[in-house]
Amino acid sequence: MIGVFDSGLGGLSVLAAIATALPRADLLYLADSAHVPYGDKPDSFITSRVLAIGQHLADQGCTLLVVACNTATTAAIQALRDHLPGVPVVGVEPGVKPAAQASLSRHIAVLVTESTARSQRLAQLIERHAAGTRVDIVPCPGWATHVETLQADTPEFLKEIAAKIDPLVSSGVDQLVLGCTHYAFLAPLIAPRLQAQAELVDVAAAVARQVARLGGAHADGQGQLILLATASPERLRAALPALGLHALAARSSPAQLATL
Ligand code: DGL
Repeated sequence: MIGVFDSGLGGLSVLAAIATALPRADLLYLADSAHVPYGDKPDSFITSRVLAIGQHLADQGCTLLVVACNTATTAAIQALRDHLPGVPVVGVEPGVKPAAQASLSRHIAVLVTESTARSQRLAQLIERHAAGTRVDIVPCPGWATHVETLQADTPEFLKEIAAKIDPLVSSGVDQLVLGCTHYAFLAPLIAPRLQAQAELVDVAAAVARQVARLGGAHADGQGQLILLATASPERLRAALPALGLHALAARSSPAQLATL
């Protein structure tokens, strides 16, 4: 069984890509809804959550783990690998490399949580893969929480999106990286601001390909989906159709509360 987790609903964008790539895999998704968002929390807190969740998923029988969260990957993937040396762990990092490769203007932007924005790991990713490209790191506090409400398209939030995105597009950004898995669900609200001058970059499909490469025996099951949440499990199940994830909804049983 493959275990996938995030602070909340954002990782469902990665889960959907994995489910498409590996239709027979048994999947377990855990949303740490009691502690969402992670993006405004210190690394030490995020690391303690990631280790507790990783251990819980391994105890449930997961033999491959996917950290479907840029913030958690940045803060704690190494600690998780050290904690569970026998379990392969796939993380999610902002698509700086594909964006820099595709950029004609040599100017890209990365939308991230505050935690990812200040991380050494993002600075290194940019240094390694975007030399010669201007990279604007754009923290988006509160955006993941808007996704959690399942009602992000309020006039106030649409205004906030415009205020953040429009100056980037006017300054010549042609690749806009969704550097938080929650933001995939904001793509329909962000895309209209791009005026055919910029593209959104999301790495969910690439992560799913990586999981499929490691897949093997982990991916050979009944195609079932177990949902766990550390708070309000019924909200996690209800989010699937609300976010347009009907194939996942068809695969899943009612969500259960995970106490950890
Ligand atoms: N979905 C997460 C990410 O990819 C974090 C959102 C949050 O909890 O702040 O960064």
